[in-house]
Formats: sequence, C-alpha cells, structure tokens
Amino acid sequence: MKISEFISRRTRLLSAMTSNSVAIIPAAKELTRSRDTEFAFRQDSDFFYLTGFLEPDAVLVLTPGKDVETTLFCRPKDKMAEIWCGRRFGVERAKEEFGFDQTLSLDELDDQLLQLVNGNDTLYYGQGTYTEFDDQVWQLLSDLRGGPKKGWQAPQTIIDVRSLVHEMRLFKSEAELEIMAKAGEISAQGHIRAMQFAKPGATEYQLEAEIHHHYAMNGARHPAYGTIVGGGDNANILHYTENSDVLCDGDLVLIDSGCELQGYAADITRTFPVNGKFSKSQAALYDLVLEAQLAALEMIKPGNTLKQAAEVTIKVLTQGLIDLGILSGDLTQLIEDEAYKAYYMHGLGHWLGLDVHDVGDYKQDEKDRPFAPGMVLTVEPGLYIANDSNAPEQYRGIGIRIEDDVVVTATGYTNLTLGVPKTIAEIEALMAK
Ligand code: GLY
Ligand code: MN
Ligand code: MN
Repeated sequence: MKISEFISRRTRLLSAMTSNSVAIIPAAKELTRSRDTEFAFRQDSDFFYLTGFLEPDAVLVLTPGKDVETTLFCRPKDKMAEIWCGRRFGVERAKEEFGFDQTLSLDELDDQLLQLVNGNDTLYYGQGTYTEFDDQVWQLLSDLRGGPKKGWQAPQTIIDVRSLVHEMRLFKSEAELEIMAKAGEISAQGHIRAMQFAKPGATEYQLEAEIHHHYAMNGARHPAYGTIVGGGDNANILHYTENSDVLCDGDLVLIDSGCELQGYAADITRTFPVNGKFSKSQAALYDLVLEAQLAALEMIKPGNTLKQAAEVTIKVLTQGLIDLGILSGDLTQLIEDEAYKAYYMHGLGHWLGLDVHDVGDYKQDEKDRPFAPGMVLTVEPGLYIANDSNAPEQYRGIGIRIEDDVVVTATGYTNLTLGVPKTIAEIEALMAK
C-alpha cells in the first residue's frame, strides 16, 4: 500500500478531532513466548492503519491545528541491537519514508510526550490494550496536574480514540479491497490444496500444514487466526485448534482458515468429505447449510442489516431441521423458542479487515446498522450435530460451516472467496481428480 494512503488516513483523523486536542496511539509490544524467544511480532491494527510502520514500541501523536500535526516516536538506530535483532528505520529515515511532520527517539518519550500533551483540552486515547503504556499516560497526566506552577495544564476530557479510528476502518478503500481480494484468493487456493491432499489416514495437522505452506509461498507468512481443521465430531467444537487427530474414512472435515496479507485477514470455512464423497445424511445437512448461506448472501445489499440476513438464515435452517426430522414442531414457534440454537449457536458473520473479527459498531443510534458500500463481512452459517446430541443417529458427529468473505457494493455484494468450491458437485469433482 502506498504511504499516501496512510498519510490521508492521518489527515482524516486529524480533521475529525476537536480543536486543541491531542491523540496518542501506541504500537504493539513484543511478547515473550518462552524465556528469551518472542511470538512473531504483529503490529497493532489501529497503529498500523494510521502509520504503516511495522516496528514495536513506537508511539504516534496527533496534534491537529498545531505547527507539527504528526509525531512518531520510534526506536533510535543502534548498531549492536540491529546486528542481533534486525534493522530499524531510525529517527531520520522514519520521517522521510512514512511522511510524519516530526520523528523523535523513544529515548525522549517521557519529556517530549508531556510537552505535546500539555495545554490541550482533550486527550484522545484508547485505554486497556497496553496496560504498561496506560500507566505511563496516567503518570503523565498526573505530572501535568501537579505542575500548574510550571505552567502545565492537563486535558480535562479524555475520549476513546478508537471510536473515530474504528469507524474509519469499517469502510474499506480501493487499495484495501485490492489486498483483501488477494488475501481471499490465496486463502481459497490454500483450501483447495487441503481438499486435494485429504484422504483417510491423513491428519488434521497435515491439512493445516498444506494450507499454511500455500499461504507462506504466496507472501502471506502468517494465518490471520488459528487455523481450524476438525475431522468428524471435532468440527462441532467451534474453535477447535488442536488439529491433532487422524482423519477417518466416512467423516467430514471442517477447515476454517484464512491468511493475513499485508495486515488484512481472509476468513474462509469449507467442509468436505475426507474420502471425497458425501454420504446421504452428510449431503442433506450440507445442502441445507448451503441453502442458508445462499439465502443470507441474497440479503447483502445496502440498506439491509446483518440481523435481517441472520433472520433469513435461521428460517431456512429451522425449516430444514424440521424437514430432516431433527426438530419437530411449528416453524414460527421453534424460531421464537430459538430451538435452532442447539445446532447453530453462533452469529451469521462479522466485519472483516485488519482484524479477523474486525472493528466497527454493529449498531447506530441503538438500531441495527444498515449495510453500506465498502463494508466487508463474513457470511458463515453452520450446523453442528455433536455425537452426544439428541438428533437422529445418522446426523450425529457431523459439523458443517460454509464461510465466505463479501464486500458490500452499491447494488449488492462481491464475493472475495469464490475461488474455492462450495457445492457438493464441485467439491466431489475436485476431490475425484
Ligand atoms: N475464524 C473465526 C470465525 O470464523 O469467526
Ligand atoms: Mn472463520
Ligand atoms: Mn468468521
């Protein structure tokens, strides 16, 4: 993504802030995995959205209307640290390459941040993510309050900066959609690779490895979240990530996986037979979930809400469960009683972007928020009939979810994850090859 996009996001945020205010947005920190090794570093999504800067510990400060409106604190150049742990942009290059008005060394953070905050009426800050940094900010405010004789003055009002940033993040630009389309494509191909590899006796972790290999080979080194590969009854554990079992002949396998590309997530689920052929009861349930997903997709257009799409899904699934003899009773009553929740216990979908469960309010003025062009969301109904459920025996041990990623357009939606087969005929044809 071009630096100009990050600069224009900062400009938009600056213009949404009140006069005489300051925003502080910290980068993520490195996290210890064990002893002296760290988890792979992942930049904070809000900080990344506004900077494109991928180093830990940095701090972005925005001061609208001042001579210097954008300040980045970052790690200074350090030859030994860079020999051991990797290159740093350093103060000067960070300013040139990322387009800030000013860059300062993190060594100066305490003094300089106090100067930048001093005298403003409002502080924009998102508390609770980085508690150590929170303490630093609270100490700074306390110092300012304690120093009126020095001419210091602390902001009277604190506003959560995330309310502004997350509203911006909800609507994706052309450049973001281009990356998300690519993430969808790579992820779809990863799923295809797993379908081609699957056979009785293969393991869940081998399918995971096939998928991750495909992501990494295509420039997406990390999955966007823990990949789920659940064979048989494991598919009925919604966030199953052990991925340790052998896949059995006659079972389905559910894979929920998406890559992260340039910070952006894809999130696809497909469910297919380990041996390449759906049994009769598997096919009946699969077609029901697919019918529900297609009905939900029909609802994705400006003006409609996620709740309306979810209601359509629930109606299709409940009617189908009655037809299959899994539920019995009156459709309207069963829906009112939420009887489907025994077999479909999660929501229809969620916003998607820099985070897999992306930010953005689902309600506006206490009402369900209508879809609007540029929003990206998942559509992912499922049915989960565990081995120990009360359903007729032929349906037990079957868990199915079908999940695609869609962009809301002016007239409807574009599916970013169409590349991976979804109908029974398409899946069986691919696996028969
Ligand atoms: N992979 C998490 C989800 O589908 O929401
Ligand atoms: Mn998913
Ligand atoms: Mn999802």
